[in-house]
Amino acid sequence: MTASLPAGAHAPGERLSAGLGLTERVLAGPRMRKMLATVEDGLDRVEATLARELKVSDTLADATTRYLYEAGGKRVRPMLTLLTAQLGEGTTEHVITGATALEMTHLGSLYHDDVMDGADVRRGVPSAHAVWGNNVAILTGDLLFSRASQLMAQIGERAIRLQADTFERLVLGQMHETVGPQAGDDPVAFYLQVLADKTGSLIASAAQAGVLFSDAPSEYRAPVLEYGEKVGVAFQLLDDVIDLSADPNETGKVPGTDLRAGVPTMPYLLLSRAGDPASRALKATIDDGVARIADGAEPAILDEAIAHLRDDPATDATRRQAYEWADAAVAAIDPLPSGVVRDALVKLSQVIVDRSS
Ligand code: IPE
Ligand code: IPE
Ligand code: MG
Ligand code: MG
Repeated sequence: MTASLPAGAHAPGERLSAGLGLTERVLAGPRMRKMLATVEDGLDRVEATLARELKVSDTLADATTRYLYEAGGKRVRPMLTLLTAQLGEGTTEHVITGATALEMTHLGSLYHDDVMDGADVRRGVPSAHAVWGNNVAILTGDLLFSRASQLMAQIGERAIRLQADTFERLVLGQMHETVGPQAGDDPVAFYLQVLADKTGSLIASAAQAGVLFSDAPSEYRAPVLEYGEKVGVAFQLLDDVIDLSADPNETGKVPGTDLRAGVPTMPYLLLSRAGDPASRALKATIDDGVARIADGAEPAILDEAIAHLRDDPATDATRRQAYEWADAAVAAIDPLPSGVVRDALVKLSQVIVDRSS
């Protein structure tokens, strides 16, 4: 149990400044004014649905399910659903329900992910497992997945299938990350596949849900799916860069959480691939630190190495990769009609790779 907040953490319930304004950044300028109002209205409805659907009669479960929801979050996935829904009949009831269910799936995956990664801070507050222990955190994630399925069932079979298929892929991505590459696997290619599965899958489904549940033309499904998956990989590559960020006030996470826990992120993989003596020495320091932390040493022993990796060319190369994936995402939506939705999707891909939280 963690009684005091880790350094840089926010008080419980205090919203992170990080992420606020994401919608405004994506939908900036006079041409986007109407779309901004539409998406903001949709996000308010998703928020109200989340607040309603997260109620649990059990007092403890009610507190634990609301905990990370109330701590904030960027709501990238519902925003994407609301945007692509404007390719069809707009913000229908099913669009709101589907967007809420996918955000709930995301929320549940965060409870589990923090247990798996040993991450003590999420959205600026101590992670659920740091407050209630692993079992309650895992069960809260399970409860959120059940609630998400119940919501999808209100829409019908294709929504249930979308949810189930997406969740299966997300889980396999997390599992492959946990198990790591096997003999003969290229570590970088393996990792990119993990990113597509654990993060791209849900973002792709969020994009797809807008098309499906607004009855938009079915030929838009494949482009938005590919866009979502690629933008999801770009998003996660940036997340790896952000993991090395020095400012927990902005990220809501402790810098280097993944690295200290021995999760091989893209900057680390690219560092491992570079054969020069300086890279080899930094990799050896990180590996040694990870092993010692696993044996109980203070996580702070890696502070200096994390700062070095942040300034290493491997981190620049990760950022460049994120830009390439964002460009590929934009190319995928070429078949969409020109107009504000497509322009907004292009802008979203740029905002995602330029974000710092
Ligand atoms: C965090 O996702 C988990 C990843 C898949 C990288 P977000 O960065 O969207 O988290 P919130 O919802 O804004 O907290
Ligand atoms: C989270 O990935 C992916 C899922 C929750 C499915 P990470 O572990 O890389 O994300 P953060 O850094 O904890 O948000
Ligand atoms: Mg994590
Ligand atoms: Mg993880």
